[in-house]
Amino acid sequence: MARAETQQKNFLSGKVEHFTESVIREMTRQAMLHGAINLAQGFPDFPAPAEIKRAGQDAIAADINQYAITWGAKNLRQAIGRKMKEFQGIAVDPEREVTVCCGSTEAMISTLLAVCNAGDEVVIFEPFYENYGPDAILSGAKPRFVKLHPPVLPDDEWTFDERELRAAFHSHTKAVILNTPNNPTGKVFTRAELELIRDLCLEFNVLAITDEIYEHIVYDGTEHISIATLDGMRERTVTINGLSKSYSVTGWRVGWTVAPEPITNAIRKVHDFLTVGAPAPLQEAGTTALDLPSSYYLKLAEGYRTRRDHLLPALAKAGFKCFRPRGAYYVMTDISAFGFSDDVAFAQHLVKNIGVAAVPGSSFYNDARDGAKQLRFAFCKRDQTLEEAIRRLQTLGSQS
Ligand SMILES: Cc1ncc(COP(=O)(O)O)c(C=O)c1O
Repeated sequence: MARAETQQKNFLSGKVEHFTESVIREMTRQAMLHGAINLAQGFPDFPAPAEIKRAGQDAIAADINQYAITWGAKNLRQAIGRKMKEFQGIAVDPEREVTVCCGSTEAMISTLLAVCNAGDEVVIFEPFYENYGPDAILSGAKPRFVKLHPPVLPDDEWTFDERELRAAFHSHTKAVILNTPNNPTGKVFTRAELELIRDLCLEFNVLAITDEIYEHIVYDGTEHISIATLDGMRERTVTINGLSKSYSVTGWRVGWTVAPEPITNAIRKVHDFLTVGAPAPLQEAGTTALDLPSSYYLKLAEGYRTRRDHLLPALAKAGFKCFRPRGAYYVMTDISAFGFSDDVAFAQHLVKNIGVAAVPGSSFYNDARDGAKQLRFAFCKRDQTLEEAIRRLQTLGSQS
């Protein structure tokens, strides 16, 4: 048996040995196993907007059930172009610059596979959304991490050191992955920070790949800025977005890239052979979603702001030090006060004994030790869900 297992392991690619399974998705499985409230994975537990659901049903009834054009249904690509123009002021050619993928997850890996060669390096800010590391490795590139440093005071911002960032750029650097508004930190990159990144991209001839799926979820008057709008960046940026977070349909698996034509052509080739296409009726429904008025997004952000402002003081009361997010729907916390050996042990205690699932901070870092005192909570949940989680978390002191 042991010999058979060893032999079977010999079949495996060396690439997969370099990363583990997703901890976020594993915490969701554990939440189900222990009947815990899932504040781990970032999906809403409330319904998607009725008009979008109806548009999906209508599309299926209208027999839009066969393969769409591999790089995306024309209607959806046109809607993406309209929306980029309206919200970012970026003119997009839907015929030549848009590729619709199976979620922004596929958009990211298709982009990296399309642009990276063995030996290339990809700069990634950490803590980072856990897919980016494996994505870089799968594409043959080497991730190069640059730290986002937590605020000293809870209301301050996560920051990076300019010298550290500059030191990460050199002749082998192919791309920098940016995620703003950011998961897991809630950081929204400022114009000055983006200009600094822009200057390095120009100096070292580097591509920016920007994941902007939380673009509409910003708080406290913070502004989301697309790096493609900065002088000199439109022609060296791949902007990634999707339906999942803006319209509360994470299970639909519709995302996209917007990139200059030669890069789009390469992304389209990879995307076609990887997945052929995203779900056709849901692409059609995506058109309805993208044409929603701007008041929809204000309401969305306001709903999340209320949830954030409800959860943060409750977490602080339970003993967590919270880093106040300016965007996205997560809160990173410092768990030093609880005295556990590490974040994984603490997350296990929370899910099994307290009944709340969260994500160990280490899953957002290359070196697990860097996140050993952090834990991330998602607050994209109904009021009742958050209320019950808060009630359970207040028992923390008495159970540990
Ligand atoms: C930063 C970031 N990018 C991408 C994704 C996945 O997006 P999609 O559902 O479009 O694949 C997530 C999901 O949590 C995320 O936080």
